[in-house]
Amino acid sequence: MDNSAPRNDIETYWMPFTANRQFKAAPRLLVAAQGMYYTSYDGRKILDGTAGLWCCNAGHAHPRIVEAVRDQVARLDYVPGFQMGHPGAFEAAARLGALLPGDLDRVFFTNSGSESVDTALKIAIAYHRLRGEAARTRLIGRERGYHGVGFGGTSVGGIVGNRKLFGTLLPGVDHLPHTHDLEHNAFSRGQPQWGAQLADGLERIVALHDASTIAAVIVEPMAGSTGVLVPPVGYLERLRTICDRHGILLIFDEVITGFGRLGSSFAAEHFRVLPDMVTLAKGLTNATIPMGAVAVREPIYQAFMTGAPEAIELPHGYTYSGHPVAAAAAIAALDVYDEEGLFERAARLAPYFETAAHALRPRRHVIDIRNIGLVTGIELTPRPGEPTRRAYEAFVKCYERGVLIRTTGDTIALSPPLIINEQQIDTLFGTLGEVLDTVN
Ligand SMILES: Cc1ncc(COP(=O)(O)O)c(C=O)c1O
Repeated sequence: MDNSAPRNDIETYWMPFTANRQFKAAPRLLVAAQGMYYTSYDGRKILDGTAGLWCCNAGHAHPRIVEAVRDQVARLDYVPGFQMGHPGAFEAAARLGALLPGDLDRVFFTNSGSESVDTALKIAIAYHRLRGEAARTRLIGRERGYHGVGFGGTSVGGIVGNRKLFGTLLPGVDHLPHTHDLEHNAFSRGQPQWGAQLADGLERIVALHDASTIAAVIVEPMAGSTGVLVPPVGYLERLRTICDRHGILLIFDEVITGFGRLGSSFAAEHFRVLPDMVTLAKGLTNATIPMGAVAVREPIYQAFMTGAPEAIELPHGYTYSGHPVAAAAAIAALDVYDEEGLFERAARLAPYFETAAHALRPRRHVIDIRNIGLVTGIELTPRPGEPTRRAYEAFVKCYERGVLIRTTGDTIALSPPLIINEQQIDTLFGTLGEVLDTVN
Protein backbone atom coordinates (compact mmCIF):
# COMPACT_ATOMS: atom_id res chain seq x y z
CA MET A 1 0.00 0.00 0.00
CA ASP A 2 1.24 3.48 -0.84
CA ASN A 3 1.26 5.51 2.36
CA SER A 4 2.94 8.49 0.81
CA ALA A 5 -0.30 10.34 -0.09
CA PRO A 6 -0.85 13.31 2.19
CA ARG A 7 -3.75 12.85 4.63
CA ASN A 8 -5.61 15.75 3.10
CA ASP A 9 -5.23 14.50 -0.43
CA ILE A 10 -8.35 15.68 -2.23
CA GLU A 11 -7.75 13.42 -5.20
CA THR A 12 -9.15 10.25 -3.63
CA TYR A 13 -12.75 11.32 -3.26
CA TRP A 14 -14.70 10.81 -6.52
CA MET A 15 -17.26 13.58 -6.16
CA PRO A 16 -20.87 13.16 -7.34
CA PHE A 17 -22.31 15.30 -10.16
CA THR A 18 -19.11 17.37 -10.06
CA ALA A 19 -16.46 18.34 -12.58
CA ASN A 20 -13.84 16.64 -10.41
CA ARG A 21 -10.73 18.01 -12.15
CA GLN A 22 -12.06 21.54 -12.30
CA PHE A 23 -13.18 21.46 -8.66
CA LYS A 24 -9.94 20.01 -7.37
CA ALA A 25 -7.95 22.68 -9.15
CA ALA A 26 -9.84 25.35 -7.16
CA PRO A 27 -11.82 23.66 -4.37
CA ARG A 28 -14.78 25.29 -2.65
CA LEU A 29 -14.90 23.73 0.80
CA LEU A 30 -17.52 24.51 3.42
CA VAL A 31 -16.68 23.78 7.03
CA ALA A 32 -19.66 24.95 9.11
CA ALA A 33 -23.26 26.06 8.75
CA GLN A 34 -25.78 27.89 10.90
CA GLY A 35 -29.19 29.26 9.97
CA MET A 36 -28.97 30.98 6.56
CA TYR A 37 -25.17 30.85 6.27
CA TYR A 38 -22.37 28.48 5.47
CA THR A 39 -18.81 29.19 6.57
CA SER A 40 -16.19 28.54 3.93
CA TYR A 41 -12.77 26.98 4.52
CA ASP A 42 -11.24 30.44 4.23
CA GLY A 43 -13.53 31.76 6.96
CA ARG A 44 -16.12 33.63 4.88
CA LYS A 45 -19.86 33.66 5.53
CA ILE A 46 -21.78 32.38 2.50
CA LEU A 47 -25.50 33.15 2.20
CA ASP A 48 -27.29 29.92 1.28
CA GLY A 49 -29.50 30.69 -1.70
CA THR A 50 -30.23 27.02 -2.40
CA ALA A 51 -31.05 25.41 0.98
CA GLY A 52 -28.07 23.14 0.35
CA LEU A 53 -29.52 21.03 -2.47
CA TRP A 54 -33.15 22.13 -2.04
CA CYS A 55 -33.24 20.39 1.31
CA CYS A 56 -32.38 22.46 4.41
CA ASN A 57 -35.79 24.13 4.52
CA ALA A 58 -35.57 25.14 8.20
CA GLY A 59 -32.04 26.48 7.78
CA HIS A 60 -28.86 24.85 8.99
CA ALA A 61 -28.12 23.22 12.33
CA HIS A 62 -31.52 23.92 13.81
CA PRO A 63 -31.00 23.35 17.55
CA ARG A 64 -34.17 21.31 17.92
CA ILE A 65 -33.12 18.86 15.20
CA VAL A 66 -29.51 18.74 16.37
CA GLU A 67 -30.67 17.88 19.88
CA ALA A 68 -33.07 15.18 18.66
CA VAL A 69 -30.32 13.52 16.61
CA ARG A 70 -27.78 13.73 19.43
CA ASP A 71 -30.21 12.26 21.91
CA GLN A 72 -31.37 9.46 19.60
CA VAL A 73 -27.93 8.28 18.52
CA ALA A 74 -26.85 7.98 22.15
CA ARG A 75 -30.02 6.14 23.21
CA LEU A 76 -30.80 3.76 20.34
CA ASP A 77 -28.44 3.83 17.40
CA TYR A 78 -29.88 1.13 15.18
CA VAL A 79 -32.65 -1.43 14.99
CA PRO A 80 -33.14 -3.90 12.12
CA GLY A 81 -36.03 -2.73 10.01
CA PHE A 82 -37.01 -6.20 8.79
CA GLN A 83 -39.36 -8.09 11.16
CA MET A 84 -38.34 -5.67 13.95
CA GLY A 85 -39.27 -2.10 14.77
CA HIS A 86 -38.81 0.83 17.12
CA PRO A 87 -41.33 3.50 18.13
CA GLY A 88 -39.66 6.37 16.25
CA ALA A 89 -40.26 4.91 12.78
CA PHE A 90 -43.97 4.43 13.52
CA GLU A 91 -44.26 7.93 14.95
CA ALA A 92 -42.44 9.51 12.00
CA ALA A 93 -44.71 7.64 9.54
CA ALA A 94 -47.86 8.62 11.42
CA ARG A 95 -46.80 12.26 11.59
CA LEU A 96 -45.99 12.30 7.89
CA GLY A 97 -49.24 10.55 6.97
CA ALA A 98 -51.21 13.10 8.96
CA LEU A 99 -49.52 15.97 7.12
CA LEU A 100 -50.05 14.55 3.63
CA PRO A 101 -53.33 15.36 1.84
CA GLY A 102 -56.17 12.89 1.29
CA ASP A 103 -55.60 9.24 2.11
CA LEU A 104 -51.91 9.36 1.19
CA ASP A 105 -51.12 7.99 4.58
CA ARG A 106 -49.37 4.66 4.28
CA VAL A 107 -45.67 5.40 4.46
CA PHE A 108 -42.65 3.32 3.38
CA PHE A 109 -39.20 4.63 4.38
CA THR A 110 -36.09 4.78 2.21
CA ASN A 111 -32.81 6.71 2.48
CA SER A 112 -32.96 9.06 -0.49
CA GLY A 113 -35.05 10.46 -3.28
CA SER A 114 -33.60 7.98 -5.75
CA GLU A 115 -34.60 5.05 -3.57
CA SER A 116 -38.05 6.54 -3.07
CA VAL A 117 -38.56 6.73 -6.82
CA ASP A 118 -37.42 3.18 -7.50
CA THR A 119 -39.57 1.98 -4.60
CA ALA A 120 -42.66 3.76 -5.95
CA LEU A 121 -42.14 2.34 -9.44
CA LYS A 122 -41.82 -1.19 -8.06
CA ILE A 123 -44.93 -0.73 -5.88
CA ALA A 124 -46.88 0.45 -8.95
CA ILE A 125 -45.99 -2.61 -11.02
CA ALA A 126 -46.60 -5.00 -8.11
CA TYR A 127 -49.93 -3.34 -7.28
CA HIS A 128 -51.34 -4.02 -10.73
CA ARG A 129 -50.03 -7.57 -10.72
CA LEU A 130 -51.62 -8.31 -7.36
CA ARG A 131 -54.94 -7.07 -8.73
CA GLY A 132 -54.72 -9.34 -11.74
CA GLU A 133 -53.40 -6.82 -14.27
CA ALA A 134 -49.92 -8.26 -14.68
CA ALA A 135 -49.53 -6.72 -18.15
CA ARG A 136 -49.42 -3.23 -16.67
CA THR A 137 -45.65 -2.83 -16.47
CA ARG A 138 -44.96 0.19 -18.68
CA LEU A 139 -43.72 3.32 -16.88
CA ILE A 140 -44.16 6.85 -18.16
CA GLY A 141 -41.87 9.72 -17.23
CA ARG A 142 -41.43 13.13 -18.82
CA GLU A 143 -38.76 14.82 -20.90
CA ARG A 144 -36.50 16.94 -18.70
CA GLY A 145 -37.71 15.11 -15.58
CA TYR A 146 -35.29 14.30 -12.78
CA HIS A 147 -36.05 11.34 -10.55
CA GLY A 148 -32.67 10.54 -9.08
CA VAL A 149 -30.04 8.12 -10.25
CA GLY A 150 -31.27 4.57 -9.70
CA PHE A 151 -31.93 2.56 -12.86
CA GLY A 152 -35.67 3.18 -12.47
CA GLY A 153 -35.31 6.90 -11.82
CA THR A 154 -32.75 7.32 -14.60
CA SER A 155 -35.05 5.48 -17.02
CA VAL A 156 -38.13 7.59 -16.34
CA GLY A 157 -35.95 10.71 -16.05
CA GLY A 158 -35.63 12.91 -19.08
CA ILE A 159 -32.32 14.75 -18.84
CA VAL A 160 -30.17 13.47 -21.67
CA GLY A 161 -26.85 14.12 -19.94
CA ASN A 162 -27.92 11.85 -17.08
CA ARG A 163 -29.00 9.04 -19.41
CA LYS A 164 -26.72 8.76 -22.38
CA LEU A 165 -23.75 7.05 -20.70
CA PHE A 166 -25.81 4.24 -19.25
CA GLY A 167 -27.01 2.16 -22.13
CA THR A 168 -30.60 1.20 -22.81
CA LEU A 169 -31.81 1.55 -19.22
CA LEU A 170 -35.20 -0.05 -18.36
CA PRO A 171 -37.30 -1.36 -21.25
CA GLY A 172 -40.93 -0.31 -21.56
CA VAL A 173 -40.52 3.33 -20.62
CA ASP A 174 -42.05 6.28 -22.47
CA HIS A 175 -41.86 10.03 -21.88
CA LEU A 176 -44.41 12.80 -21.97
CA PRO A 177 -43.34 16.06 -23.60
CA HIS A 178 -41.84 18.61 -21.19
CA THR A 179 -43.73 21.81 -20.48
CA HIS A 180 -41.02 24.39 -21.11
CA ASP A 181 -41.99 26.94 -23.76
CA LEU A 182 -40.38 30.35 -23.87
CA GLU A 183 -42.38 31.46 -26.85
CA HIS A 184 -45.65 31.31 -24.92
CA ASN A 185 -44.60 31.49 -21.30
CA ALA A 186 -41.44 33.59 -20.85
CA PHE A 187 -41.42 35.69 -17.67
CA SER A 188 -44.55 34.04 -16.26
CA ARG A 189 -45.20 34.74 -12.62
CA GLY A 190 -46.45 31.61 -10.90
CA GLN A 191 -48.16 29.02 -13.10
CA PRO A 192 -47.89 29.78 -16.82
CA GLN A 193 -51.17 30.11 -18.69
CA TRP A 194 -50.17 28.09 -21.74
CA GLY A 195 -49.56 24.35 -21.90
CA ALA A 196 -52.33 22.32 -20.17
CA GLN A 197 -52.85 20.46 -23.45
CA LEU A 198 -49.33 18.99 -23.21
CA ALA A 199 -50.82 16.49 -20.75
CA ASP A 200 -52.67 15.00 -23.73
CA GLY A 201 -49.35 13.45 -24.70
CA LEU A 202 -50.45 10.72 -22.30
CA GLU A 203 -53.46 9.93 -24.49
CA ARG A 204 -51.10 9.45 -27.42
CA ILE A 205 -48.96 7.03 -25.42
CA VAL A 206 -52.12 5.17 -24.38
CA ALA A 207 -53.22 5.05 -28.01
CA LEU A 208 -49.85 3.60 -29.00
CA HIS A 209 -49.44 0.95 -26.31
CA ASP A 210 -52.93 0.49 -24.83
CA ALA A 211 -53.75 1.41 -21.26
CA SER A 212 -53.71 -2.25 -20.22
CA THR A 213 -49.89 -2.19 -20.49
CA ILE A 214 -49.27 1.00 -18.51
CA ALA A 215 -48.59 0.90 -14.76
CA ALA A 216 -47.84 4.47 -13.80
CA VAL A 217 -46.96 8.01 -14.76
CA ILE A 218 -44.36 9.82 -12.67
CA VAL A 219 -43.80 13.58 -12.81
CA GLU A 220 -42.36 16.26 -10.62
CA PRO A 221 -45.35 18.54 -10.02
CA MET A 222 -42.84 21.36 -10.38
CA ALA A 223 -39.71 20.19 -12.15
CA GLY A 224 -36.73 21.45 -10.14
CA SER A 225 -33.41 20.03 -11.22
CA THR A 226 -34.02 20.63 -14.91
CA GLY A 227 -34.26 24.35 -14.23
CA VAL A 228 -37.54 25.14 -12.43
CA LEU A 229 -40.49 24.35 -14.71
CA VAL A 230 -43.75 25.40 -13.09
CA PRO A 231 -46.76 23.37 -14.29
CA PRO A 232 -49.08 25.25 -16.66
CA VAL A 233 -52.53 26.08 -15.30
CA GLY A 234 -54.72 22.98 -15.63
CA TYR A 235 -51.89 20.63 -16.64
CA LEU A 236 -51.72 18.47 -13.52
CA GLU A 237 -55.51 18.27 -13.32
CA ARG A 238 -55.59 17.00 -16.90
CA LEU A 239 -52.93 14.41 -16.18
CA ARG A 240 -55.00 13.23 -13.21
CA THR A 241 -58.13 12.93 -15.35
CA ILE A 242 -56.38 10.94 -18.07
CA CYS A 243 -54.78 8.60 -15.52
CA ASP A 244 -58.19 8.01 -13.93
CA ARG A 245 -59.77 7.34 -17.30
CA HIS A 246 -57.26 4.57 -18.01
CA GLY A 247 -56.58 3.09 -14.58
CA ILE A 248 -53.00 4.39 -14.56
CA LEU A 249 -51.39 5.32 -11.25
CA LEU A 250 -50.16 8.90 -10.92
CA ILE A 251 -46.98 9.43 -8.90
CA PHE A 252 -45.86 12.89 -7.86
CA ASP A 253 -42.16 13.11 -7.17
CA GLU A 254 -42.22 15.66 -4.36
CA VAL A 255 -38.59 15.28 -3.33
CA ILE A 256 -38.12 19.02 -3.90
CA THR A 257 -41.68 20.34 -3.66
CA GLY A 258 -42.47 18.63 -0.35
CA PHE A 259 -42.14 20.45 2.96
CA GLY A 260 -43.00 24.01 2.11
CA ARG A 261 -41.03 24.92 -1.00
CA LEU A 262 -44.15 26.16 -2.81
CA GLY A 263 -45.65 27.79 0.29
CA SER A 264 -47.80 24.74 1.05
CA SER A 265 -46.91 21.50 2.79
CA PHE A 266 -46.85 19.60 -0.54
CA ALA A 267 -47.43 20.39 -4.20
CA ALA A 268 -50.38 17.98 -4.14
CA GLU A 269 -52.02 20.31 -1.66
CA HIS A 270 -50.87 23.45 -3.46
CA PHE A 271 -52.29 22.43 -6.82
CA ARG A 272 -55.21 20.49 -5.31
CA VAL A 273 -54.43 17.38 -7.32
CA LEU A 274 -54.23 14.14 -5.38
CA PRO A 275 -51.77 11.62 -6.82
CA ASP A 276 -51.81 7.92 -5.94
CA MET A 277 -48.30 8.02 -4.52
CA VAL A 278 -45.75 10.66 -3.56
CA THR A 279 -42.01 10.27 -3.28
CA LEU A 280 -40.22 12.33 -0.63
CA ALA A 281 -36.74 12.93 0.81
CA LYS A 282 -34.64 16.09 1.37
CA GLY A 283 -36.79 18.33 3.62
CA LEU A 284 -38.21 15.27 5.39
CA THR A 285 -35.34 15.50 7.89
CA ASN A 286 -34.22 19.01 6.88
CA ALA A 287 -31.37 17.01 5.28
CA THR A 288 -29.75 16.50 8.68
CA ILE A 289 -29.78 12.72 8.27
CA PRO A 290 -30.47 10.96 4.94
CA MET A 291 -34.05 9.73 4.71
CA GLY A 292 -36.68 9.30 2.01
CA ALA A 293 -40.24 8.05 1.95
CA VAL A 294 -42.99 6.85 -0.36
CA ALA A 295 -46.54 7.59 0.71
CA VAL A 296 -49.34 5.64 -0.97
CA ARG A 297 -53.09 5.90 -0.88
CA GLU A 298 -54.99 3.47 1.29
CA PRO A 299 -56.29 1.17 -1.50
CA ILE A 300 -52.76 0.61 -2.77
CA TYR A 301 -51.58 -0.49 0.65
CA GLN A 302 -54.65 -2.68 1.10
CA ALA A 303 -54.04 -4.41 -2.24
CA PHE A 304 -50.85 -5.83 -0.71
CA MET A 305 -52.50 -6.93 2.56
CA THR A 306 -54.36 -9.86 1.07
CA GLY A 307 -52.21 -13.02 1.25
CA ALA A 308 -51.35 -15.18 4.23
CA PRO A 309 -50.65 -12.97 7.26
CA GLU A 310 -47.24 -14.59 7.80
CA ALA A 311 -46.13 -13.79 4.22
CA ILE A 312 -43.96 -10.74 3.59
CA GLU A 313 -46.27 -8.59 1.48
CA LEU A 314 -43.63 -6.43 -0.21
CA PRO A 315 -40.23 -8.07 -0.68
CA HIS A 316 -38.45 -4.74 -0.74
CA GLY A 317 -36.65 -2.54 1.79
CA TYR A 318 -33.32 -1.14 2.89
CA THR A 319 -31.05 -1.90 5.84
CA TYR A 320 -31.61 1.68 6.94
CA SER A 321 -35.36 1.98 6.21
CA GLY A 322 -36.85 3.83 9.20
CA HIS A 323 -33.41 4.28 10.80
CA PRO A 324 -33.86 5.50 14.38
CA VAL A 325 -31.66 8.57 14.00
CA ALA A 326 -33.30 9.55 10.71
CA ALA A 327 -36.74 9.02 12.22
CA ALA A 328 -35.82 11.26 15.17
CA ALA A 329 -34.57 13.92 12.77
CA ALA A 330 -37.81 13.68 10.74
CA ILE A 331 -40.03 14.05 13.80
CA ALA A 332 -38.00 17.06 14.97
CA ALA A 333 -38.06 18.64 11.50
CA LEU A 334 -41.85 18.21 11.27
CA ASP A 335 -42.13 19.82 14.73
CA VAL A 336 -40.01 22.77 13.61
CA TYR A 337 -41.97 23.28 10.38
CA ASP A 338 -45.18 23.26 12.36
CA GLU A 339 -44.18 25.33 15.39
CA GLU A 340 -42.34 27.97 13.39
CA GLY A 341 -45.05 28.06 10.71
CA LEU A 342 -42.40 27.77 7.99
CA PHE A 343 -44.73 26.72 5.17
CA GLU A 344 -46.94 29.73 5.86
CA ARG A 345 -43.84 31.88 6.10
CA ALA A 346 -42.79 30.72 2.62
CA ALA A 347 -46.26 31.62 1.31
CA ARG A 348 -46.06 35.08 2.92
CA LEU A 349 -42.60 35.78 1.52
CA ALA A 350 -43.38 34.45 -1.97
CA PRO A 351 -44.66 37.77 -3.43
CA TYR A 352 -41.56 39.63 -2.20
CA PHE A 353 -39.34 36.87 -3.57
CA GLU A 354 -41.18 36.99 -6.90
CA THR A 355 -40.76 40.75 -7.23
CA ALA A 356 -37.06 40.51 -6.37
CA ALA A 357 -36.56 37.71 -8.90
CA HIS A 358 -38.34 39.49 -11.75
CA ALA A 359 -36.37 42.67 -11.05
CA LEU A 360 -33.47 40.82 -12.73
CA ARG A 361 -35.25 40.92 -16.08
CA PRO A 362 -33.21 43.86 -17.48
CA ARG A 363 -29.88 42.25 -16.51
CA ARG A 364 -27.53 40.91 -19.15
CA HIS A 365 -28.18 37.50 -20.73
CA VAL A 366 -31.54 36.93 -18.98
CA ILE A 367 -34.11 35.32 -21.31
CA ASP A 368 -36.61 34.04 -18.76
CA ILE A 369 -37.51 34.25 -15.11
CA ARG A 370 -40.04 31.80 -13.68
CA ASN A 371 -41.07 31.34 -10.08
CA ILE A 372 -43.45 29.83 -7.57
CA GLY A 373 -43.31 29.86 -3.77
CA LEU A 374 -39.70 30.25 -2.69
CA VAL A 375 -38.14 28.97 -5.89
CA THR A 376 -37.11 30.69 -9.08
CA GLY A 377 -35.34 29.77 -12.29
CA ILE A 378 -33.44 32.48 -14.13
CA GLU A 379 -32.54 31.32 -17.60
CA LEU A 380 -29.61 32.82 -19.48
CA THR A 381 -28.79 32.72 -23.17
CA PRO A 382 -26.06 30.13 -23.55
CA ARG A 383 -22.69 31.48 -24.63
CA PRO A 384 -22.31 30.45 -28.30
CA GLY A 385 -20.43 27.15 -28.52
CA GLU A 386 -20.08 26.94 -24.72
CA PRO A 387 -23.41 25.88 -23.20
CA THR A 388 -23.60 26.01 -19.37
CA ARG A 389 -20.37 28.01 -19.14
CA ARG A 390 -21.95 31.40 -18.53
CA ALA A 391 -24.18 30.19 -15.68
CA TYR A 392 -21.24 28.33 -14.14
CA GLU A 393 -19.14 31.48 -14.16
CA ALA A 394 -21.97 33.36 -12.46
CA PHE A 395 -22.06 30.63 -9.82
CA VAL A 396 -18.32 30.95 -9.11
CA LYS A 397 -18.49 34.74 -8.96
CA CYS A 398 -21.47 34.69 -6.61
CA TYR A 399 -19.59 32.28 -4.36
CA GLU A 400 -16.60 34.60 -4.30
CA ARG A 401 -18.98 37.38 -3.24
CA GLY A 402 -20.49 35.30 -0.44
CA VAL A 403 -23.66 33.92 -2.03
CA LEU A 404 -24.38 30.28 -2.91
CA ILE A 405 -26.53 29.83 -6.02
CA ARG A 406 -27.14 26.72 -8.10
CA THR A 407 -26.98 26.24 -11.82
CA THR A 408 -28.42 23.61 -14.08
CA GLY A 409 -27.58 24.01 -17.72
CA ASP A 410 -27.85 27.74 -18.36
CA THR A 411 -30.51 28.25 -15.73
CA ILE A 412 -29.80 29.60 -12.26
CA ALA A 413 -32.09 27.98 -9.69
CA LEU A 414 -32.63 29.68 -6.35
CA SER A 415 -34.45 27.93 -3.50
CA PRO A 416 -33.33 29.39 -0.17
CA PRO A 417 -34.21 28.01 3.25
CA LEU A 418 -37.74 29.06 4.21
CA ILE A 419 -36.30 31.09 7.11
CA ILE A 420 -34.80 33.66 4.72
CA ASN A 421 -35.76 37.28 5.45
CA GLU A 422 -36.38 40.22 3.10
CA GLN A 423 -32.93 41.71 3.59
CA GLN A 424 -31.32 38.39 2.69
CA ILE A 425 -33.57 38.11 -0.36
CA ASP A 426 -32.27 41.54 -1.41
CA THR A 427 -28.67 40.39 -0.92
CA LEU A 428 -29.29 37.20 -2.88
CA PHE A 429 -30.79 38.89 -5.94
CA GLY A 430 -28.66 42.03 -5.62
CA THR A 431 -25.44 40.01 -5.73
CA LEU A 432 -26.68 37.85 -8.59
CA GLY A 433 -27.75 40.92 -10.58
CA GLU A 434 -24.33 42.54 -10.21
CA VAL A 435 -22.61 39.32 -11.15
CA LEU A 436 -24.74 38.83 -14.26
CA ASP A 437 -23.55 42.19 -15.54
CA THR A 438 -19.94 41.09 -15.15
CA VAL A 439 -20.05 37.72 -16.92
CA ASN A 440 -19.55 37.65 -20.65
C1 LIG B 1 -37.50 15.40 -7.94
C2 LIG B 1 -36.34 14.61 -7.44
N1 LIG B 1 -36.44 13.28 -7.34
C3 LIG B 1 -35.43 12.54 -6.89
C4 LIG B 1 -34.24 13.10 -6.52
C5 LIG B 1 -33.12 12.23 -6.05
O1 LIG B 1 -32.91 12.40 -4.70
P1 LIG B 1 -31.55 11.86 -4.04
O2 LIG B 1 -30.44 12.69 -4.57
O3 LIG B 1 -31.80 12.02 -2.56
O4 LIG B 1 -31.42 10.42 -4.41
C6 LIG B 1 -34.09 14.48 -6.59
C7 LIG B 1 -32.82 15.13 -6.21
O5 LIG B 1 -32.60 16.29 -6.44
C8 LIG B 1 -35.16 15.25 -7.08
O6 LIG B 1 -35.05 16.58 -7.23
